[in-house]
Amino acid sequence: MFIVFDGMDGAGKTTQLHLFVDWLRDAGQEVATCKDPGTTKLGIEMRALLLGHHPVAIDVRSETLMFMTARAQLVEQFIRPALHNGKTVVCDRYVFSTVVYQGYGGGLDPETIWGLNDFATAGLMADLTFIFDLDAKIAMSRLGDSLDRMESRSEDYFRRICTGFVAESKRWPTGVELIDASRSIDEIQSHLRQLYLDHG
Ligand code: TYD
Repeated sequence: MFIVFDGMDGAGKTTQLHLFVDWLRDAGQEVATCKDPGTTKLGIEMRALLLGHHPVAIDVRSETLMFMTARAQLVEQFIRPALHNGKTVVCDRYVFSTVVYQGYGGGLDPETIWGLNDFATAGLMADLTFIFDLDAKIAMSRLGDSLDRMESRSEDYFRRICTGFVAESKRWPTGVELIDASRSIDEIQSHLRQLYLDHG
């Protein structure tokens, strides 16, 4: 099974992901975790270029293709082999992030990005995607001072991201769950576990 944690920066998805993975492992499952972009050597290089504060100019189209490059490598080198070996794969971010950040945030057409996602992943969609939803203002305030290149943007930008995740999650009849991230860590974690069990 392939599970993705995605959504707003500052919504606590990484904390929730760790708790969730511990729970799966305690239940005896073999879990492989990964980060998009990241995990593979190429992904880590792309991540440093994309998210570092460096003087390289990156246009939104280049940015989109760079996220896709990292993703294609991640799927081929890590996710598919892990699934093939019977592992549960849990990934921090995936296809929705590019549709929302480079689409709704960066002004590109979301449909075009879905097409690129399809190419990059060779059609591999997660079985279950949790999308963390949090008011843009709260998300910004939670991020504090140590912002990366993507995070150091305006409130209007964060609002577009927030709107994008909600709109895109609603387009999927099954397998994509919008998670209210304004609740306590325990409440959110119980909700995720329940959704997972319900998913079967
Ligand atoms: P993330 O990995 O959640 O950062 P960290 O764990 O370091 O807090 O996300 C990094 C940033 O990259 C985040 O602002 C979202 C952005 N991003 C995109 O703009 N497009 C994408 O396709 C992905 C995967 C991430």
